[in-house]
Amino acid sequence: MYYNLMKKSEILRLYKNYVAPNYGRMPLAIVEGSGCKVRDADGKEYLDFVSGIAVNLLGHSPAPVAEALVEQARRLVHTSNLFYTVPQGELARELVRLSFPSQALFVNSGAEAIESAIKLARKYHHDKKNGRFEIIAMENSFHGRTMGALSATGQKKYHKGFAPLLRGFRHVPFGDIGAVRKSVSKKTAAILVEPVQGEGGIVPAPAGYLRALRELCDKHGILLIYDEVQTGMGRTGKWFAWQNYGVRPDIMTLAKGLAGGFPIGAMLARRDVMAAFGPGTHASTFGGGPLACASALAVIKTVKQKNLLQNVKKISKESERLLNGLKKKFAQIRDIRCVGLMIGIDLEVPGGKIVADCLEEGMIINCTHDTVLRFLPPLNVKISEIKKGIKILEKVLCRNIS
Ligand SMILES: Cc1ncc(COP(=O)(O)O)c(C=O)c1O
Repeated sequence: MYYNLMKKSEILRLYKNYVAPNYGRMPLAIVEGSGCKVRDADGKEYLDFVSGIAVNLLGHSPAPVAEALVEQARRLVHTSNLFYTVPQGELARELVRLSFPSQALFVNSGAEAIESAIKLARKYHHDKKNGRFEIIAMENSFHGRTMGALSATGQKKYHKGFAPLLRGFRHVPFGDIGAVRKSVSKKTAAILVEPVQGEGGIVPAPAGYLRALRELCDKHGILLIYDEVQTGMGRTGKWFAWQNYGVRPDIMTLAKGLAGGFPIGAMLARRDVMAAFGPGTHASTFGGGPLACASALAVIKTVKQKNLLQNVKKISKESERLLNGLKKKFAQIRDIRCVGLMIGIDLEVPGGKIVADCLEEGMIINCTHDTVLRFLPPLNVKISEIKKGIKILEKVLCRNIS
């Protein structure tokens, strides 16, 4: 049974009249979801492999998150950071234990976590009075839409119309250690990198790259920042994507899946680095609120209890095998890239029409970087659901490409 509060046409009209037009939305008004499935206001069911853009780690409306939220809401909804709360302290401890010796700062989104990282890197070097403020970031990267995060983002299409951007960012080709070496100067404060570029088309850092960045940073006293907003919290089969490479950062940003759908962002930094953020230096009214932290704790507990990192690895391997089968059938599939449950199918042609046709057939995927079909299923997806999705994809590809 599903409840329908409004007809789809009425919902769309509300948006047309009252909601900002800054999103290109799919023609779907979702009223409810469970696991990998969602239902539209007109009653049609869809297999959802976008998961709120890598957010719904446990699928839609997961019971552990719903229960944690209700229980926490009955006790305490908001306090501000003028006070201490149990969930924030416990979540910080969990994240530090899962990652590297550090302390955590909580915010509300990925862009805000990146802003915090940029500010911390500048403040850390400011306190050392060494004149370092520049950040080297990667071409093809994506770090968010606020002015600092946008300035760090290495894709011109996102900058258009918003000049002047923040000063002090240099962009170099992703994966090219020689280009980074050439860009390092006495002004370099930090190197910012996604271990796997997400919006950039699911492109993993090449072998040896993160290690070489680490060595460069250690040699020059530069901070290494990993943006794990999309890759973090188990999506790649480890808690954090850098753990696949075994190379620690000094600062790491998280958001998206951290609280399974409840808004949250976090920045972890080495203790001596975080020390630069003394009282009054940086803040967020809602950051680390009890509801967000209680949901995140429920997500972490469930991932551990249900052994979901193992599930990610297993499903990833099988998906890769099945998709490579498809690649043999369609010459216009250029590449299949599976990093855990970040799955990209790189085409010779733009993917927009294929995404629209998949939607018609009852499956939600999206297209990033123009030609990359992106699948981001929840960490608890079943192989039967993946097989169903690949069948739909094959049918749609048959109609669209050779
Ligand atoms: C790697 C990465 N960093 C930062 C962001 C920005 O996150 P948010 O949209 O929560 O601000 C995103 C969003 O897609 C992302 O993929």
